[in-house]
Amino acid sequence: MPFRQINVAVIGAGWVGGIRANACARSPLVDRLHIAETNPVRAAEITAETDAASVTDDWRAFLDDDSIDAIIIASTPESQRFPIVRAVLAAGKHVMIEKPIAPTPAEADEAIALADAGNLKFTVGYTRRFDPKYAYINQAIKEGRIGEPVTCLVSRNITREIGAKIKGRSKMSPAAMGGTHSIDFLLWCLQPRLPVRVYSQQAGKLFSQVSDTPDHQWIMVTMDDGTTITAGSGWVLPLGYPQYSQSWIEVVGTDGALTVDDTHREVRVNTTEHGIRYPLSSMPGEQVDHVFAGAMVDETLHFLDAIAFDRPVLVTAREARLVMDVTMAADLSAERGEAVDLPL
Ligand SMILES: NC(=O)c1ccc[n+]([C@@H]2O[C@H](COP(=O)([O-])OP(=O)(O)OC[C@H]3O[C@@H](n4cnc5c(N)ncnc54)[C@H](O)[C@@H]3O)[C@@H](O)[C@H]2O)c1
Repeated sequence: MPFRQINVAVIGAGWVGGIRANACARSPLVDRLHIAETNPVRAAEITAETDAASVTDDWRAFLDDDSIDAIIIASTPESQRFPIVRAVLAAGKHVMIEKPIAPTPAEADEAIALADAGNLKFTVGYTRRFDPKYAYINQAIKEGRIGEPVTCLVSRNITREIGAKIKGRSKMSPAAMGGTHSIDFLLWCLQPRLPVRVYSQQAGKLFSQVSDTPDHQWIMVTMDDGTTITAGSGWVLPLGYPQYSQSWIEVVGTDGALTVDDTHREVRVNTTEHGIRYPLSSMPGEQVDHVFAGAMVDETLHFLDAIAFDRPVLVTAREARLVMDVTMAADLSAERGEAVDLPL
């Protein structure tokens, strides 16, 4: 199969960007890896880990480098990323960006238009789609294994350690930060159905005492064929492991039901120092010796494949744009205390 080696740059090599940079560094599809990281300590760390060809604190250095094919954008805060997205797409680079796709729908549309005009791959980090359990649910629903879907539930909670990190850097709601993964996943499973109505409620008793960030948000979505979605997202669980996350999934159909326990209770470590912990339980996953436990490396390799072999990306920017409509409608609904119809 014909393919070409590519050169990739990662902008923002923190927790997630670090995983993606390491995945690129190990892939034979990547010739040269470049890093842009503003934190000098982290920049030195990741350069040593990945043997990067170059490291800079200014991503603009990539714009005029025609040898760079693709850019992965994983910098925070999310609200400050759009100038990067616009500039790198305009410079003709393929792009993977962490969710959300853009701060506003108009900016998302502008980025999609730039990618279309340049015939560029443009994808968003909806990592759950690359988790085998989630891929199984999608396949089972699309193949009609449970008949017609009737209702779908995803309840996801993460620890207050991550909640505090998110709270500190932006005012984005649980719908936009965590709920977005569940909404993307369920809209994907239910394609070609489209969302028509959204109702949402938020609750806050912990972080909301010191900020305007709620602790949890439920989102109910009605699809155009009457299927209902309920997605909950919160970030105040006690520490169960660094970056611990747990999800519970139920899909009920006319001819069956799917139940997936993604609560990471299958591995337990009990130590005198930390008590009970549930390892291998963060959303993106983590490196364990010679293997990666989690979906983010496969997701990153899929992006590299798409460019090197000229294949379509699994998560399209237009799908991410639809997810944005739903999470924005959810925030509007929570604010107004009433259901919101789509399209907005
Ligand atoms: N897909 C998933 O499962 C998943 C999980 C967690 C987080 N995320 C998303 O990934 C993104 C990154 O999250 P994180 O937890 O890794 O954040 P982080 O804060 O650990 O990392 C961000 C990095 O960007 C660097 N940075 C900031 N501005 C920069 C700039 N202008 N140029 C270069 N570097 C810059 C910071 O120094 C930091 O090292 C977020 O958008 C988050 O929502 C995705």
